[in-house]
Amino acid sequence: MKKKILVTGGCGYIGSHTIIELIQSGRYEVVSVDSNVRSTPETMDRVEKITGVKVKNYRVDICNGPAFFKIFEEHPDIQGVIHFAAFKAVGESIEEPLMYYRNNLGALANVLEACRHFNIKALIFSSSCAVYGEVQTLPVSEQTPMGQAFCPYAHTKQIGEEMIRNMMVPNPDMNALILRYFNPVGAHMSGLNGELSPDKPNNLVPIIMRVASGKQPSMTVFGDDYDTRDGSCIRDYLHVSDIADAHVKALDYLLEHRNEQQCEVFNLGSGNGVSVLEMLAAAEQVTGRKLHYVIGGRRAGDIPAIYGDSSRANTLLHWHCHYDVHDMMESAWKWEQYLDSKNI
Ligand code: NAD
Ligand code: WQD
Repeated sequence: MKKKILVTGGCGYIGSHTIIELIQSGRYEVVSVDSNVRSTPETMDRVEKITGVKVKNYRVDICNGPAFFKIFEEHPDIQGVIHFAAFKAVGESIEEPLMYYRNNLGALANVLEACRHFNIKALIFSSSCAVYGEVQTLPVSEQTPMGQAFCPYAHTKQIGEEMIRNMMVPNPDMNALILRYFNPVGAHMSGLNGELSPDKPNNLVPIIMRVASGKQPSMTVFGDDYDTRDGSCIRDYLHVSDIADAHVKALDYLLEHRNEQQCEVFNLGSGNGVSVLEMLAAAEQVTGRKLHYVIGGRRAGDIPAIYGDSSRANTLLHWHCHYDVHDMMESAWKWEQYLDSKNI
């Protein structure tokens, strides 16, 4: 008998890839809630094309408590919630901090309220390596203390984690996993699902793909004077389908009662630091195109290097990355070409 899971933000980038992995595991049935404030309903058509399963998405703003709770009334057999829905752009959060606190924390408050009211015992929360702030020691483990949040977005993740821990105290039946993602990139290996970036993307791989496909003539590498092996910043990139797979394993872990504490934290990274220039070289190799870039100044708020130690997830969740940087670029490139072919 399949277990029913509610995925919030299911039409988004990581949510949709996670739904694919949940369905393909054969163990889970999915209901999604996504207001499409940062996505489109067509995502579910792409999920169907890959899995053969049509997932129901409720187009509801989770900040609207009564509308959100109705979903649980319609589905009293929901056993777990994976909460992806949030705003995630660092720069926008600096421009519109209240929008970030309201949406990210208001939605989480309703998710926690629903878990309590409808007796949902398993919650998985999307956190971020952004909670660590400017780290001094690498790799970053779950024990690394949180630093000063460098933007309101990162702060919503720090507060969100604390809200979850607070809710565990008066609700001893509730269990939660906090997953701190490093830099998820790439697309489904079929090239049929990926990230719908804003017109002016902020993140490295979508920008690289815009240059590779000729939508943008060149790009800027933000700094080559860092104390790193080639002077450019180092990050821990991992394939979105690997992140998605980690959620299936995290649910298994909670629903099989393998957790030792009510609330546990896991880093999700590949453990490898890759520089911006190395990412560009990988993209040139995969796309067969020369990528034009200029070396610019450092981007405000960037830290020179961060990569994670995910051995806790490797050992306890039995989760390992299957895809490397070449796969990340190959899938992102396939997805870019798919979007071009559909004029999206
Ligand atoms: P995304 O923007 O692609 O997906 C988020 C989805 O949530 C969107 O479809 C949006 O429409 C929906 N949403 C937002 N607020 C909502 C609300 N109030 N009610 C209903 N739906 C709402 O983002 P993503 O990359 O898939 O990220 C998913 C989660 O992972 C987020 O919590 C994000 O902070 C976290 N995360 C992402 C990254 C990353 O680099 N992508 C890294 C670390 C953590
Ligand atoms: C990667 C590297 C840039 C664009 C962000 C969030 C973080 C988390 C993951 C959500 C950096 C460099 C980029 C460009 C460049 N998200 N770069 N030229 O900043 O590591 O992390 O996403 O939780 O919270 O901050 O990702 O993709 O923006 O940048 O040189 O045009 O690429 O300087 O070193 P970042 P990114």
